[in-house]
Amino acid sequence: MAEIEAYYDKKSESYDSIFAALYFRVYDAVTWRYLEPYVPAASDAVVLDAGGGTARWAIRMAEKGCKVVLMDSSEKMLNAAARKVKAKGLQHRITLQKGDIATIGYADETFDMVLCEHALFLFKEADVAIRELKRVLKKNEALVISTQNRYVQALSSIAGKPRVDNVERAFKVLVN
Ligand SMILES: C[S@@+](CC[C@H](N)C(=O)[O-])C[C@H]1O[C@@H](n2cnc3c(N)ncnc32)[C@H](O)[C@@H]1O
Repeated sequence: MAEIEAYYDKKSESYDSIFAALYFRVYDAVTWRYLEPYVPAASDAVVLDAGGGTARWAIRMAEKGCKVVLMDSSEKMLNAAARKVKAKGLQHRITLQKGDIATIGYADETFDMVLCEHALFLFKEADVAIRELKRVLKKNEALVISTQNRYVQALSSIAGKPRVDNVERAFKVLVN
């Protein structure tokens, strides 16, 4: 956990720049097409964006009208998110919270929807986090999870940078 936190703290300033790549422009468009129908528009609905990073999805969801709690373990990803949320004037709808999504400090059945996009691949035991996400979700509401598989993750870590340390990292992702 500390290692992941440090990794994303360091990555926070450059994190959003990767989404200009064609791969992510397509990925984002397709993801939003499938995600949007599940996002509540009611102003009293509250969505949990678990591992929400720099608010890439939180902002889009809040723009539909709901409230969003973005929980992330990296202080610096949250700082980057705060700047974007302020620039959009969405502070009244988006709450940024430092926390571990494997131990969410909210009561059972709190949220009207839970999103966990592109974060569970970081967990050795993703089922612990999934149980926790389900616990805080209201009955019969949507839990939307998507994550890269390890092969794609490994490839993306070496794409354009076939340096030895990156190849080593890709290898670790694939064999661990
Ligand atoms: C690849 S980023 C995805 C961010 C965002 N969901 C997106 O789609 O752009 C993974 C995020 O998960 C966060 N994260 C990793 N482990 C976490 C944990 N145990 N609890 C909360 N956040 C976590 C990281 O800090 C990082 O911001």
